[in-house]
Amino acid sequence: MKDNRDLNEIAGNFGINESESEIDTDECEIDTDDLSESIIEEASTTPMPDDVFKALNEQVKNEFEAFYAYYGMANSMDSIGFKGMACWLRKSAKEELNHAYKVNDYILERGKDVKLIPIQPSKEKWNTPKAAFESANKHEISVTANYNNLKKLAESGGDHQTCEFINFFLREQTEEEDKTFEICQKLDKAGNDPAALLQIDNHLGC
Ligand SMILES: [Fe+2]
Ligand SMILES: [Fe+2]
Repeated sequence: MKDNRDLNEIAGNFGINESESEIDTDECEIDTDDLSESIIEEASTTPMPDDVFKALNEQVKNEFEAFYAYYGMANSMDSIGFKGMACWLRKSAKEELNHAYKVNDYILERGKDVKLIPIQPSKEKWNTPKAAFESANKHEISVTANYNNLKKLAESGGDHQTCEFINFFLREQTEEEDKTFEICQKLDKAGNDPAALLQIDNHLGC
């Protein structure tokens, strides 16, 4: 009642009759338990179609696998003396890891739980730069197909938020397919010429 008395004192100062100005604070009391329950009941996110969720969850695994594959290629190139290519491939591996995080976090933002799927080990060894970069290029093409399928699913489910999200990855895929294809073309031209291969290695170095 202290606050009430203070208000009535102020009201008196302004010539307002105390009884007229008295405020019944009990009537103003809000049951905060009821309020928090009603907020929780109403707060949500737009539901994500189940098939879109499953495909996105699978895509987290695909991106982690891409990370693994690029890392394996980097190790292989390092072991045969192409340090520049190894560095380029390691940087690509990190980008794949960031993609995995991004898809993972998007699923969480949409109110779903991510189920981490075991990833397969990459091919053990790539014996030539051409073998490694052709493998990288094929991998990028298959990842693009995954995102195209994902976008089709999201479109058919009316999930425009996911369509918008996937557009970023489709743009990335165009760039990554192009970069790996360009390196494959250079390696084709270099053939088995050590000088030409070392020049490509220097060019790709970090
Ligand atoms: Fe990726
Ligand atoms: Fe990629």
